[in-house]
Amino acid sequence: MQKFTFHCPTEVIFGKDSENCTADLIKKYNGHNVLIVFGGGSIKRTGLLDKIITQLKEASLFVSTLGGVQPNPLVSFVNNGVKKALAQNIDFVLAIGGGSVIDTAKAIAHGLQYPTHDIWDIWTKKVKLEKTTPFGSIVTLAAAGSETSDSSVLTNEQTKQKRGLSTPFNRPRFAIMNPELTFTAPKVQKACGCADILMHTLERYFAKEQDNYMTDYIAEGLMKDVIYYAPKMLENPQDYLSHSEIMYCGSLSHNDITGLGRTKDFSVHKFGHELSAKFDATHGASLTTMWASWARYVYKHDVERFCHLGKVLFDISETGEDGAIKTINTLEEFFYRLGLPICISQLTGKILDETELKYLTDMCTDNNSKAIGTFNPLNYEDVYTIFK
Ligand code: NZQ
Ligand code: ZN
Repeated sequence: MQKFTFHCPTEVIFGKDSENCTADLIKKYNGHNVLIVFGGGSIKRTGLLDKIITQLKEASLFVSTLGGVQPNPLVSFVNNGVKKALAQNIDFVLAIGGGSVIDTAKAIAHGLQYPTHDIWDIWTKKVKLEKTTPFGSIVTLAAAGSETSDSSVLTNEQTKQKRGLSTPFNRPRFAIMNPELTFTAPKVQKACGCADILMHTLERYFAKEQDNYMTDYIAEGLMKDVIYYAPKMLENPQDYLSHSEIMYCGSLSHNDITGLGRTKDFSVHKFGHELSAKFDATHGASLTTMWASWARYVYKHDVERFCHLGKVLFDISETGEDGAIKTINTLEEFFYRLGLPICISQLTGKILDETELKYLTDMCTDNNSKAIGTFNPLNYEDVYTIFK
C-alpha cells in the first residue's frame, strides 16, 4: 500500500425524508442567501423544488433559483450563474439534481470568489483556486458521485474541451441522499449511472501498484453490489432497497475510498470525455462505449489482475489470457444488458471517419503532448488505436 492522504469532510445525510433537514444544514454552514441550482425541470415536475423553497423560506433564508443546467454542463452557464449570484449576494449554493447540476454549483461557488475571472481560467489552472463559497447538494440521480467527490467537470463550448478539476475545494459541505428522490430518473440515466459508478472503481482498480488488499476488498465489494442491484433497480423503478444500495455505491465509488494506496488510471474517462464533448454523449454511455476496447488493448499488462476480477465478480475460473478475455467479455455483456452502448457506432449512430478519429485522439492527448493513464500509459498511437 502506497502513502495516501484521505480527507472527505462532506456531511452525508442518507435515507427517507433526509431533504427535510436542508435548511438546518445550510444554517449550520452559515448560509443566509441561498442560490438553488437545478437542471432541466425534473425537480419542478416532482414537486421537490417547491418543497425545498418553502422549507428554506420558512427558515427565514433568502432564496433565489437558477434552473436550466444541461447534461455535460457548460462553462458559459456557470459564468452567467456567477454574475447572477454576485448580484444577489449569495453566500450558499445548493445543488438539487445529478452530477451536472452539482458540478455547476461547485463552479459557481468557486466563481463567486473570483468575480473578475472566466471560470475556465480556474479549470485550465491559469488561476489557482484557493478558496470557495459553501455549497451542498440534494442528490436526485445515483451516478457521478459528485456529491462527495473532489472533482467537477465542465465543457467549454468554444474550445470543445470537456475537462475535470480535482481539488479539495470541490468537496461539498453536505450531501443529502434520499434514494426515493432517484425513483423518477429515466431508466437510461439510471443505467448510465450504474456504469459510471462501476467505472469510478474500475479506473482505480487497475493500477501499477500491487499488494493493496484492504482497498481491493472495498472495491470488489462495491462492484459486486452494483452488479447485483443494478438490474433490480432498472426493473423496479420504485424499489427502495436497490435504489439505496446503488445510491450509497455512487457516493463511495468516487470519494476516493475505493482507490486509496495506489494511483488512479482514468483513461476510459479521458476517452469518454472526448466523446461527450464532440457528440454530447451521456457520460456513463461514453464509458461503456470505450471500456472493453481499452481493456482488450491493455490486459496483457496484468493478466492476473483481470482474471482475479473475473473470479470475484463473475466466478470465472479460467486463468491466463482466456480468463482475462472472458472477464472483459462478461463485463461488456453486463453493460450491454443494461441497454448501454459498447462501441462508438452504437453511441453515435455512425462509424467515425479518419478525420474524426484523429480529432478525438488530438483532443485526448492534447495534440500528442501527453500520455493517458498510469496502469499502462498510452501514447498517441495507442489512443488512436483504441478509439479505432
Ligand atoms: O436536468 P433534469 O431535468 O434534472 O434531468 C436530469 C438530466 O436530464 C435527469 N434526472 C436526474 N435526476 C432525475 C432526473 N430526471 C427525473 N428524475 C430524477 N430524479 O437525468 C439527466 C442527467 O443528469 P446529469 O446530472 O447529467 O447526470 P449524472 O449525474 O450522470 O451527471 C453527469 C455529469 O457529471 C460528470 C459527467 O461528466 C457529466 O457531465 N461527472 C462528474 C464527476 C464528478 N464531479 O466527480 C465525476 C464523473 O466521472 C463525471 O465525469
Ligand atoms: Zn464518471
